Amino acid sequence: MSILEVEHIRKTFDHTQVLQDISFSLEQGQVVSIIGSSGSGKTTLLRCLNFLERPDGGVIRIKGDTLFDAEHISTQSEQEIRRKRLHFGLVFQSFNLFPQYTALQNVMLAKQLLAKDEPNYKVRKKRFSKKLKTRHSSC
Ligand SMILES: Nc1ncnc2c1ncn2[C@@H]1O[C@H](COP(=O)(O)OP(=O)(O)OP(=O)(O)O)[C@@H](O)[C@H]1O
Ligand SMILES: [Mg+2]
Repeated sequence: MSILEVEHIRKTFDHTQVLQDISFSLEQGQVVSIIGSSGSGKTTLLRCLNFLERPDGGVIRIKGDTLFDAEHISTQSEQEIRRKRLHFGLVFQSFNLFPQYTALQNVMLAKQLLAKDEPNYKVRKKRFSKKLKTRHSSC
């Protein structure tokens, strides 16, 4: 099962349609790059996935669960959206990075915070950190 499914996402600012019918899926462990010229909507797409922007249309699913469906208002309450935002980690560009951390620490941070919710985190902490560091150092 795909870890992330995005179907027919649309987003318009004023009269500019920035995202038009965006669909893709991601498998666990898959690494995907979004490439496009400045202003083509890369950040807007990521902000929609993290609910920092609300898509005008489309569906977002995580492991088969519908996190957002523009057709279903029940998926869009503030409380629901705040809870669902915890599924995503985002590393921002340049000035939004944490200056006290190295580049590697900035990239690893979201995954480290999410891991704290996993069972036996305290016992497995060292092994987890080592694995994470190895994985991100090679990217
Ligand atoms: N909150 C907003 N209100 C109005 N327009 C916006 C808003 N956010 C983004 N836009 C517009 O949406 C378009 C896409 O912007 P976006 O930042 O997603 O592009 P990008 O591909 O990430 O660009 P870059 O490569 O420069 O980071 C741009 O025309 C931008 O001006
Ligand atoms: Mg951008």
